[in-house]
Amino acid sequence: MSTQTIRPARSFQGSVTLPGDKSISHRYAMLGGLAEGTTRLSNFSTGADPHSSLACMETLGAKVVRTDEKTIEITGTTGSFGQPAKPLDCGNSGSTMRMLSGLVAPHAHIYTLIGDHSLTLRPMERIRKPLMQMGAKLDLIDGHAPITIYGGPLTAIHFDTPIPSAQVKTAILFAGLQAEGTTSLTESVRTRDHSEHALRAFGATLLRDGEKLSIPGGQTLKAINATVPGDLSSAAFFLCAALLFPDSNLVLDAVGMNPTRSSLLDIIAALGGKIKVLHVEEQHGEMVGTIQVNAPADGPTGMEITGALSAQVIDELPVLAAIGPYTRDGITIRDAKELRVKESDRIALVVKNLRAMGAEVTEFEDGLSVPGGQSLHGALIDSGTDHRIAMAFSIAALRASGDTEIHGAEAAAISFPEFFTLLDTLSVR
Ligand code: S3P
Repeated sequence: MSTQTIRPARSFQGSVTLPGDKSISHRYAMLGGLAEGTTRLSNFSTGADPHSSLACMETLGAKVVRTDEKTIEITGTTGSFGQPAKPLDCGNSGSTMRMLSGLVAPHAHIYTLIGDHSLTLRPMERIRKPLMQMGAKLDLIDGHAPITIYGGPLTAIHFDTPIPSAQVKTAILFAGLQAEGTTSLTESVRTRDHSEHALRAFGATLLRDGEKLSIPGGQTLKAINATVPGDLSSAAFFLCAALLFPDSNLVLDAVGMNPTRSSLLDIIAALGGKIKVLHVEEQHGEMVGTIQVNAPADGPTGMEITGALSAQVIDELPVLAAIGPYTRDGITIRDAKELRVKESDRIALVVKNLRAMGAEVTEFEDGLSVPGGQSLHGALIDSGTDHRIAMAFSIAALRASGDTEIHGAEAAAISFPEFFTLLDTLSVR
């Protein structure tokens, strides 16, 4: 495991173009692998997770050419996957495992989906239920991976998703696309809608009637040419850093601003950040923009993040909690129990690491509360091999007294391999 030292900064300044969005890259890789023709993608995510999806698509018979890690060509299988010669290795990626399950289940083969230690601890029953109802057989081990899927022709269902999860929604949509009849679902909370946009971009029909989303089965897909927007969840680390220094100035170029993801920007604004949208356009249904962010003169205010909002910014909660001590009124997060079943138990690790840096924090089963107006000191941080924990505490370290050591820093490469280099460029010391 590698350790990264983060020194305190005096300010945060600069302009960055972020690597491609992880969620969108997964979807383009999977749908490109199923479609007819050659999909050409630029600014594909450099993170290890979407590259796990690409490797799985190769195992399923798609041809993948990596001009470089960001420029990818995928020649799809025109709707038919063969019997893979080896297991589908999803690495650390819950998105790959859950979404791919829906994509392969309609094919009459046996698929084994495996992953690393962290992935085998994550709940998979949530995808088994709808896919079994559609007619697939899935074997799990006590609710967890490895998953064995006995695929075959599926029939449409209606499903009410009890847990807000775009991954589960996507598994159902990908299976429904290839099933007989029209599959529909309703979500308890509307989650990120990249799958809906991606499916339409690849030529599929989807219908929305109020909260009900439907997808007719038996549809075929056509390859696309696309540029993946910059990843707003990666940008979140720098947006939070920008809030911490009164004279900060951060420009994010070509970043994804999909409204189902951009609640983060509302939170940054509610904390006092001044956001200017310099440019915005639509690409394949996704909003992409250039934004400039400046800090509030008297520091970030603080807020409570609860209910649907917690689900909408689930990936950004660790960094929002990590800057909580530096806010005026503190950060409280509730209704975020899902954080306990991400790449790590993110509530437990955020609490542990905040305490290591000298912060006062209260832990709840579904969140935490960090009082504002606290000073932190450098400490040894345990990333728990979780990318978002490693990056969140690198941001807290910028305003701590003394150096902070991030143990297991290499985990950042799961979503954002360029993180430490860019952090160093943007931090003024
Ligand atoms: C994702 C959905 C979220 C998120 C994950 C990516 C996606 O997970 O935490 O990082 O791309 O659909 P859930 O769908 O499990 O909430």
